[in-house]
Amino acid sequence: MCGIVGYIGERDGQKLLLNGLKCLEYRGYDSSGMAIYLEKKKAISLRKLSGKVKNLEVLLEKKPLFGSLGIAHTRWATHGPPNQLNAHPHLDCKGEIALVHNGIIENYREIKQMLLKETHTFRSQTDTEVIVHLIEKFYYKDASLEEATRRAAKLLKGSFAIALFSDREPDKLIGARCGSPLIVGLGDKENFLASDVPAILDYTKKVIFLEENELVVLEKERVKITNFEGEIIKREPVNISWTKEEAQKQGFPHFMLKEILEQPQVLEKILEQRIKDSGIFFEELGSSSPVLLSKKLSQIKNIFIVACGTAYHAGLVGKYILESLCRIPVLAEVSSEFRYHSSFLIDKDTLVIAISQSGETADTLASVRQAKMQGAEVISICNVLGSTLTRESDAVIYTHAGPEISVASTKTYTAQLMILYLFALYLAVLKETLSKDRINDYLEMLKQIPPKQRQILSNLKIIREIARKHSHFGSFLYLGRNINYPSALEGALKLKEISYIPAEGYAAGEMKHGPIALIDEYRAVVCIIPESKLYDKMLSNIQEIKSRSGKVIAIASEEDRKIKELVSQVIYIPKIEELFSPLLVALPLQLMAYYIAVKRKCNVDQPRNLAKSVTVE
Ligand code: AGP
Repeated sequence: MCGIVGYIGERDGQKLLLNGLKCLEYRGYDSSGMAIYLEKKKAISLRKLSGKVKNLEVLLEKKPLFGSLGIAHTRWATHGPPNQLNAHPHLDCKGEIALVHNGIIENYREIKQMLLKETHTFRSQTDTEVIVHLIEKFYYKDASLEEATRRAAKLLKGSFAIALFSDREPDKLIGARCGSPLIVGLGDKENFLASDVPAILDYTKKVIFLEENELVVLEKERVKITNFEGEIIKREPVNISWTKEEAQKQGFPHFMLKEILEQPQVLEKILEQRIKDSGIFFEELGSSSPVLLSKKLSQIKNIFIVACGTAYHAGLVGKYILESLCRIPVLAEVSSEFRYHSSFLIDKDTLVIAISQSGETADTLASVRQAKMQGAEVISICNVLGSTLTRESDAVIYTHAGPEISVASTKTYTAQLMILYLFALYLAVLKETLSKDRINDYLEMLKQIPPKQRQILSNLKIIREIARKHSHFGSFLYLGRNINYPSALEGALKLKEISYIPAEGYAAGEMKHGPIALIDEYRAVVCIIPESKLYDKMLSNIQEIKSRSGKVIAIASEEDRKIKELVSQVIYIPKIEELFSPLLVALPLQLMAYYIAVKRKCNVDQPRNLAKSVTVE
């Protein structure tokens, strides 16, 4: 959570840092700030305040900062309310060091007590402020800023990515990471620091990803990386393939809508990359990878899928897919639970699949570390190149969905699903659980998904109308069965996170065990009922809801006459084998949530209290 940008070079620092913050606002947006070294005054000047980056922009228009060395931050509050005092950057006592921080310092109370005794005074309620004071403490004991930062970093417990500079060494910008992502962007006579790639895409595509417990010193024409012991580390930069256009709204009212509409292209790209001459290719798992040889994969006894939020729902769908296609037991669990209790169930015959858009989700990373300690192989399904998860897994399957900016995951969800379908078919080949013909049939069906998605997206009007009609409902229930039970969970999550309407997802078979008590004329119930072997069971559920005056919105297969007779609000999706229906069902669910949130005038891309990547526990 929180966004960091840092710059050292010759350009207008204020403009560049502000631009970077705007690209990072999805990471946190309750307050923001900037510190710049003023060449003329040979001092640090600071602007910060509560609210969105827009507020900071207005302030900077009135009171600009001129300089080419600086740091900026957009905050997602953990310690202390989101007000001006708690906004970053924070300064040391003398105002000679400015620092921004992402993460949580777990031992900040102890450090604060120690520093208070040494006459340090604190201005904020944040955990962050102790870092800059700790650095100050060492700085005035004859250490360079680099060495003082290193000494301080070694004393911190918890997670951090920090960026800082001092007016006593204005040719240096320093960064350090432990548990929170930080990247270095390389330019010509200029260098950048950021918590995420989009912040610097306008200026460079050459990026170095810092590893755990590393410190970097940036000068205009030099970058030096060391570990916390001071040993030099050599690392080649990688070239980022994302374009700036991909990370922009391009005329859409919200990133979320843009990203929903991108899904057919994203899935087409995955299919093109993975299916060649009727074969399924996962080069990253093949003989080139010593740890995950196909032989070994074919021998695994069980699979654990770990993930959070939407990625967890993709994992739940993955459980249905893998169990039915590969005849292997699969347990899908939220990472925050797995990390504390399930890891003892795994051993070297277990495959762990970690799913994460950002690759920085703290609980998922902790689960992967646990699993590896137990001897399991870990494959990650991830969207962000070079993220921590990708570096800590035995093999990585990228979703290549492009940057997802809206806090609500949409295109990365269906991209994760598509990878899971293809991976399951790949494993089915290795384990010989399906015939060649069956696999070919399934591959043909998967190739039909992008055009079928386009068909849904070509008629947004009906979904928009239904959404508008129901936007005043105080709560929603989402029901599905079998492989669409996770779809129901995901539909409910989408709605609640962006419209703030309480929404619950349930397996329709569980209705009579409790949720049916909720049904009355004030309850909107979204029933996922595509053509399937459990169609009649779902139909009975709908009858039961209707007879209790619940307002049903059905998501059904085209040409379904029975449902038309029973329910007035129907969203049709093209016909598809039930197994693949989550790839289609997801779209009306996402669009419903989107249009309801727009109608309720919610901040769709940056819902309250949320952040795109959850890098703290
Ligand atoms: C999705 O709409 C949510 N914003 C959230 O549940 C998200 O999926 C979850 O935080 C996991 O993030 P990750 O995929 O980056 O690990």
